[in-house]
Amino acid sequence: MRRPFCLEPFVIRPTLTASLFLFVVACQGQPESGTTASNTAAANTAAANTPPANTTPPASASATPANATTSPAAMLAADADCNLSTPLVPGIPGSPGNLVKSSRNPNGDSELSVLMRQFVDDLREVRPMLEAGQKVKALLPVHRKMRCAWPTKPEERNQQFDLRAQAYLGAVAAFDQTPGKDTYNAIIAGCIACHSVSCGGPLEFIGEMRWE
Ligand code: HEC
Repeated sequence: MRRPFCLEPFVIRPTLTASLFLFVVACQGQPESGTTASNTAAANTAAANTPPANTTPPASASATPANATTSPAAMLAADADCNLSTPLVPGIPGSPGNLVKSSRNPNGDSELSVLMRQFVDDLREVRPMLEAGQKVKALLPVHRKMRCAWPTKPEERNQQFDLRAQAYLGAVAAFDQTPGKDTYNAIIAGCIACHSVSCGGPLEFIGEMRWE
């Protein structure tokens, strides 16, 4: 099976070093789409201009959420310790200047990269278990840390990234609630939605993780 070099056990050879460079460029060189930002700004303005009278009263709907763990309010409270405004701790493993070195990547990986590979491992673990009808662990407790993990380039942890992360984590929460093929594939769709914008390198690999 062919895999992108970013997940290949690392062997130091000039060709692979060149490949790694290409991968890093693939992950970091793509500018954010300007349309997304302006669309969001437009949406925010529209929302701000909407008179309160037109908004649906939350009243009883939010009083007894069908599921406390996936209601937006509960998720917000649960993420109070890890969101876009959570300060990242300098000097921890995976922070700039303290990349996590491994035989796979002697140059070192960011905290976010290490977490991404945990995502891959988790999904590879749960799928065969579900196929065998077994109970699987919840993924959100670990995956949610993506909102407060050091990326290779700190400036890439911005509002656009965080919005995509929240959309992804919504899919993860739905999976935890109802683990199965559909919710698994919704997680993969979340990986792809983010990677098609900010880190194209592993896209083909992620596509292969779909549960057909
Ligand atoms: C909200 C955006 C976002 C989501 C969602 C996301 N990723 Fe990523 N991913 C990134 C970014 C940004 C990087 C680059 C991290 C860095 O360079 O520090 C990355 C890096 C990676 C890497 C390369 C890690 C390495 O350096 O070897 C893999 C593999 C990966 N992601 C897989 C996944 C998978 C699988 C999922 C879903 C289960 C996923 N990603 C979900 C943004 C995302």
